[in-house]
Amino acid sequence: MSTGISLQGKVALVTGGGRGIGKAIARRFAEAGANVVIASRKLENLQATARELDGLPGKVLPIACHVGRLEQLQNLVSETEAQLGSVDILVNNSATNIGQGPSLDVTDEMLDKIVDINIKAAIRLVRLTVPQMMKKGTGSIINISSIAGIEPQPQGMLYSFTKAGLIMITRSWAREFGPAGIRCNAIAPGLIQTDFSEHFWKNEEYRKQLEQTQPIPRIGQPHEISHAALYLASAEASFVTGQVFVIDGGMTT
Ligand SMILES: NC(=O)c1ccc[n+]([C@@H]2O[C@H](COP(=O)([O-])OP(=O)(O)OC[C@H]3O[C@@H](n4cnc5c(N)ncnc54)[C@H](OP(=O)(O)O)[C@@H]3O)[C@@H](O)[C@H]2O)c1
Repeated sequence: MSTGISLQGKVALVTGGGRGIGKAIARRFAEAGANVVIASRKLENLQATARELDGLPGKVLPIACHVGRLEQLQNLVSETEAQLGSVDILVNNSATNIGQGPSLDVTDEMLDKIVDINIKAAIRLVRLTVPQMMKKGTGSIINISSIAGIEPQPQGMLYSFTKAGLIMITRSWAREFGPAGIRCNAIAPGLIQTDFSEHFWKNEEYRKQLEQTQPIPRIGQPHEISHAALYLASAEASFVTGQVFVIDGGMTT
C-alpha cells in the first residue's frame, strides 16, 4: 500500500516486530522504503515475517534479541549498524503483561521482569542509538504505550504503571532531545486483536461490553496502529514531539 509518505534511506529498528502491532509497523515502514530490523526472542518467527515481507521496497532483517538482556541489546544495535547503518527510527514495542491480578499478589520477580522489558529496554536502546542520531541531527523515537497507561487497567497495576511510565519518558525525551533534532512520541492503543490481548478479546462478555460502549464498536486491528507510526517516523511529523496518540476506537471518551 503506498501512502505517499517516504522513509527512503532510513534505518528503523522495531522491537517485537515479528508479530502483532510491531509486524504491522515493520510492514508499513518497509513499504515506505525504510530498511527495517525486526527484533524479538523467537528467531524462527522473525524469519517467517521477514520472508512474508520480502519484496517490499525496504529490506527486513530479523535479529534475535531478548530485550531484557543488556548484552543482547548491545548486539542488536551493533549488528544493525554493521548490516544497515545507524538507527534513524526506533520503535520500542516489545512488552509483557505479566502480573495481571490483585496488586497484593505482585512479587518482586514480576516487578523486576516487567520493568526490565517494558521500561529498561527502551531506556537502554535509547542510550545505544541516540548518540548516532545526534551526530546526524535527526531521529524519531516511538514508544508503544497503551490506554492502560492513561486509565488504570483493572487487575493490571503493573502493566499500567509501566505504560504510564513510558508516556512520561516520551515527554522527557522530547524535551531533552528536541534541540538535537530528535523527536519522541508515544502511541497508546486501545484493544487491538493480537496474541497479547487475546485474554480480553476472546472473552465474550468483555467483547459484548466493548461493543456496547465504545464509539467505534469493535476491536482494532494492528494495521490501524501502523499508519500513525509511519506518520510519526516521517518528515511529515517534523513539528510533532512529546505527544501521545490515542488510537482506541474512542474507548477513553
Ligand atoms: N494488543 C493490544 O490490545 C494492545 C493494547 C495496547 C498496547 N499494546 C502494546 O502494543 C505492543 C505490541 O503488542 P501486541 O499487541 O502487538 O502483542 P504481540 O503480538 O503479542 O507482540 C508482542 C511482541 O513482543 C515481543 N516480546 C515479548 N517479550 C519480549 C522480550 N523479552 N524480548 C523481546 N521481545 C519480546 C514478542 O516477540 P517474542 O515472543 O518473539 O519475543 C512479540 O513480537 C506492546 O507494547 C503492548 O503493550 C497492545
